[in-house]
Amino acid sequence: MSEKVDPKRRKALLITSGVMGAVTVAGFAVPFLSAWNPSEKAKAMGASVKFDLTKLDAGAMAVVEWRRTPIFIVHQTEQAKQNLPKLNEKMVDPALEEGLLRSSNDKFSVLKGVCTHLSCAPKYYPEIEPKAWDQEWLGGFFCPCHGSKFDLAGRVYKGVPAPVNLEVPPHTFEGDTLIIGDAV
Ligand code: FES
Repeated sequence: MSEKVDPKRRKALLITSGVMGAVTVAGFAVPFLSAWNPSEKAKAMGASVKFDLTKLDAGAMAVVEWRRTPIFIVHQTEQAKQNLPKLNEKMVDPALEEGLLRSSNDKFSVLKGVCTHLSCAPKYYPEIEPKAWDQEWLGGFFCPCHGSKFDLAGRVYKGVPAPVNLEVPPHTFEGDTLIIGDAV
């Protein structure tokens, strides 16, 4: 059964991700959703960041900063979870051993928002509809710099410049709290 996704919320998130996509990681400057934020110095040294998962509706994505890197947190819909296995044959590395969402959680994927080609910021396109870059698009990330495609779990498509899946940062789940980085 598919979950309802608030179209207004999706639009707002897409606008945010559109801004993200226009810049590279070296200079990104977008409003990140607030998380539990340690001091700037601690962040630079790699302190962990906490995020309240109850803020994120199904189908939405949040971007938080960890070690000066954008981290994408995706709340997967039931429909997305059903569609991911259909894409296995189009993936360079289906990564099934990591689990469907490449996460220890069955609802959320946590990914570094850094294209594995030349480090641009991929944009979030969760909608299922034909796109200029893929007529059979089932939702995922598209990197506008050189056209790399990733599915909603960050798996890279075959035949694009990016060689490997979006990286999964170290993270743990404690109830409704996501901890990115080493637990404190
Ligand atoms: S940096 Fe993403 S496709 Fe080249």
